[in-house]
Amino acid sequence: METKQESCRLPRNGKRVILFPLPYQGHINPMLQIASVLYSKGFSITIIHTNLNPLNACNYPHFEFHSISASLSETEASTEDIVAILIALNAKCVVPFWDCLVKLTSISNVQEDSFACIITDPLWYFVHAVANDFKLPTIILQTNSVSAYLAFAAYPILREKCYLPIQDSQLEAPIIECPPLRVKDIPIFETGDPKNVDKVISAMDESCISWLDKHAPKSVIYVSFGSVVNIDETEFLEIAWGLANSRVPFLWVVRPGLVREAEWLELLPKGFVEMLDGRGHIVKWAPQQEVLAHPAVGGFLTHGGWNSTLESICEGVPMICQPYFGDQMVNARYISHVWRLGLHLDGKVERREIEIAVRRVMIETEGQEMRERILYSKEKANLCLKPGGSSYQSLERLIDHILSF
Ligand code: UDX
Repeated sequence: METKQESCRLPRNGKRVILFPLPYQGHINPMLQIASVLYSKGFSITIIHTNLNPLNACNYPHFEFHSISASLSETEASTEDIVAILIALNAKCVVPFWDCLVKLTSISNVQEDSFACIITDPLWYFVHAVANDFKLPTIILQTNSVSAYLAFAAYPILREKCYLPIQDSQLEAPIIECPPLRVKDIPIFETGDPKNVDKVISAMDESCISWLDKHAPKSVIYVSFGSVVNIDETEFLEIAWGLANSRVPFLWVVRPGLVREAEWLELLPKGFVEMLDGRGHIVKWAPQQEVLAHPAVGGFLTHGGWNSTLESICEGVPMICQPYFGDQMVNARYISHVWRLGLHLDGKVERREIEIAVRRVMIETEGQEMRERILYSKEKANLCLKPGGSSYQSLERLIDHILSF
């Protein structure tokens, strides 16, 4: 292995790559190998890893290591159900990973290197959405073979063609769609809840955007309450039923931590997701600006945080505001009563109210009128940013002011 002195002599190219391996040795090793290759090509390397696998930083003196806490409960960590662990890991690491990126990107201004991208594992399916928010491209390092990957990706077809669940009498049968595999070669995992495998696979394969791609223009309502709001179980269920009863397709961000005293979706009634029959897509985090810019999105049920409000206006998407605290109350009032770009739900969170509001914005002419007004606001907002526009000029003045110090 090269020494630190030798490695320091390698010319650097000013770009830093973040690598985030899954905490299993078979996934860590290839990630460290590709990191070493990239390092030899001039890239600086930052490794983010969970506290479950302390890595031996001494072996890689030229890499920067950051540990994040996966904080699995004892029961979660001790289960042999690897699929359940993967789901728990993906839920638990969103916030620590996000915090780590905040820290890294804030110090990047004082470092010589700029961040080029994040390389991660396909089973870290939450990473893409978070990285997107930091405008960092992601590259997936597939740590198993292409053939195995294709077999995993074929799960929906295997289920449709009744190869799954596997029947003992069929073990030797060839899988015509995936030669040379036989039924007994299907890459299965023992798991308490077989649907979890689908959850992981669809989370790896189906991003918010590919789900939106399947929908007609302006047909989907996007639902998100920002990064801070907490709601209780009753509110959560009222929103869930309001969305379901509206019969309008919805993309809903349920952050782990959004619902007090819940891990994620376990408070939803049994069979709720199945009952939606694909009409709802629930994710832990979404690339919000990309979602709002997507042609399929026709409305936004929001807490009315200021960033969300501006992003919605800049993409011409009318809002339904369900404010919770602080400035959200003021924003909701302006959105609904002054600018008339949306509705304001100002009573108790109730399913019927949500259902009606969603239909008003998404289906009725009232929504169409809001859409026309918001396009006008979008144009005005864009003009502000152009040379001569008010925001542009304010920024110029600010820069002059700072330069005058
Ligand atoms: C907080 C306050 O709650 C809000 O009232 C205040 O106006 C700003 O500070 P937050 O609740 O996080 O903000 O809401 P908001 O201002 O809307 O910001 C959320 C940001 O996270 C947005 O830029 C949004 O694009 C992003 N986001 C949110 C995502 O990218 N994906 C998500 O899934 C959710």
